[in-house]
Parts: sequence; C-alpha cells; structure tokens
Amino acid sequence: MHNGTSITQFIIEEQRHMTGATGDFTSLLNDVVTACKVISNLVNHGALVGVLGSAGSENVQGETQKKMDILSNDVFLKSNEWAGHLAAMASEEMDEIYPIPAKYPRGKYLLTFDPLDGSSNMDVNVSVGTIFSILRCPGGGAAATERDFLQAGTQQVAAGYALYGPSTMMVLTTGNGVNGFTLDQNIGEFILTHPNMTIPTDTREFAINASNMRFWEPPIQRYVQECLDGKDGARESDFNMRWIASMVAEVHRILTRGGIFMYPVDAKMKEKGLEGKLRLLYEANPMSFIVEQAGGSSITGTARILELQPESLHQRVPVILGSRNEVERVLSYHQQG
Ligand code: AHG
Ligand code: MN
Ligand code: MN
Repeated sequence: MHNGTSITQFIIEEQRHMTGATGDFTSLLNDVVTACKVISNLVNHGALVGVLGSAGSENVQGETQKKMDILSNDVFLKSNEWAGHLAAMASEEMDEIYPIPAKYPRGKYLLTFDPLDGSSNMDVNVSVGTIFSILRCPGGGAAATERDFLQAGTQQVAAGYALYGPSTMMVLTTGNGVNGFTLDQNIGEFILTHPNMTIPTDTREFAINASNMRFWEPPIQRYVQECLDGKDGARESDFNMRWIASMVAEVHRILTRGGIFMYPVDAKMKEKGLEGKLRLLYEANPMSFIVEQAGGSSITGTARILELQPESLHQRVPVILGSRNEVERVLSYHQQG
C-alpha cells in the first residue's frame, strides 16, 4: 500500500475548490492520465514490442513519422473519445481536427496534444514525452470546428506533460500552481512526489540547438555569445549548456533546477515561410502555461506566448522560456534591436 496522494485523489480534491465543477473535468483528466500510462508502457518495452523505427509516412508538417508518433496518437484518440467530455481533439500528428464520432456523446471540452514529443530520441533510448492542453469549447461543443481551437493560451483550463525518462512522471497545472507525480509501476498509479514546483528566478544554464547558430537573429546571437564568453565576457559568469532535443525533458529540467530553453526563429525557417519550429497549440501554449504557473516566463522573443492569438491549427512560434531573469534579458535584447 502506498501512503502518498494519487493523481486521481489530487484532481478530485482540487476540483472540490472549483465552483460549478461537475466532475466532468476530473474524469477527462483521468482519461488523459490513462493514455499516458499506456504510452509509458509502450515506450518502456521499446524494441520488445516492435515500436521503434520509422512509420514510413509524413505528418502535415512534412516531418517523418515514427511508429510511436502514430501509435501514441491512436492511444490518445481511443482513450479520450468515448467518455462524453470532449467535443473534439487536435494533434500535431493529424492534418485536421478530430470531432468526437457520432456514436459517442459530445462534451464541452477540447483536447490538444503532442502525443510523442522528442520522437527522434525514441530509437536511441533517450527521454521522450507527451504534452497536452485542455480548452473549453466555445458554444458548448455540439459541432466543434477548427476555429474553436484558435484560443489564446491564457484560456487554457489545464495543461500538462508526461515524461518517459528514468521514471515516468506527470506534471500538471490547472492554473493553481504546478504539481509533479511519479508513476509507481507496481500499482499503476501516479503519486504526488513534486508538490508546488517552482522555477528559480536565476540560472547559469541554457539550452539551444547551437548547430543553427549562423542562422539566428542578432539578439539570440548576442545572448548565447555572452553565455559562451563566461567569466571573461559581459556576464562575468560561466554558463553550462544542455540540449536533449526533447522539449518535455528540457522543461522538466528547468522546473527542477532552473534554466533557459530557446528554439528561436531563424533565417533558414524564414526562407521556408516558417515562424518557428515548435507548435503553438501542442507545445508552446501548454508549456508556457506550466512555466508561468511555476514562476517562470515564456516569450517569442518580443511577446508573451500565452497572449498570442492563434491563426491556424498547426501554427509554429519561436519559444524562449524558463528562469524569469534570463528570459527578461533575452526580451530586452530583442527590444534593443
Ligand atoms: P517532436 O518530436 O514532437 O516533433 O518535437 C521535437 C521538438 C522538441 O521537443 C525539441 O525541443 C526540438 O523539436 C528538437 O529539435 P532539433 O531536432 O532541431 O534539435
Ligand atoms: Mn514535440
Ligand atoms: Mn511529437
């Protein structure tokens, strides 16, 4: 018997403090948690259950899909379509929104997700994750459209991620702080292990894919160069660097010990007509909600991500998030031009 607080108990107790709560939301979160447990199990078994490698297809964004991208997308659809809490779902791996099939009741929420984040790490056995966000469906949800999903991040009801690392964790916010749970594989329950996670205001650790350096805009060039100059440069302090290529793992590190994560827009993307690498609805908004709830900041370089008005389902944005003082420094470098 465990003596800790299970995620189910935690969500129910949190919902008791929400006026007008019907239990719908608790039940929806439970289904999301179940989906993440199923994905965790597949990820853990890896080659034993034949889930490594490419699926031989491309998603709407022209990225090669891994077998696990497709499998985990299906797991999310199957776990969340039947219970009557959702009007529709949208995912990084699907061209169009997924309205709840007519044979099931439709509910008042929308669910967006990146079913497997960092999927290039799957085959090399490095941490991957799942990111999700819950929105209310305007108009009650009888017939949800793509437009219903185009809500600013400030409208999110909840957001979270599952991290499939040395242990499987679920980190969650419903707008009342951030809490982390660890999956106890013996009993199949997430147990509260990281209550009230907060991001230190200062950091000396940055994360960026430095292979893109020559394409960056001047403010990012300046910020990273100053970090690299260390004690001998303008910052008069040495910095450490990390790059896992899995946003979930990077954000989790930042929630644990601070740091700044950057995937800025660069000249190479702009040439292709792209405004960033990471997706606003599936990655940037949920992670920005979590980071802000933990006391950090999240910007595009010039604007707060959560206030952006999404223009399309698969919109991409530059992302700079983490310890507040460093993110504000990057903002000021952009303002200085
Ligand atoms: P996904 O696997 O869902 O496509 O996301 C990968 C993202 C993000 O998690 C990570 O920070 C970044 O792409 C890695 O990009 P590079 O391969 O350019 O380093
Ligand atoms: Mn991703
Ligand atoms: Mn993905």
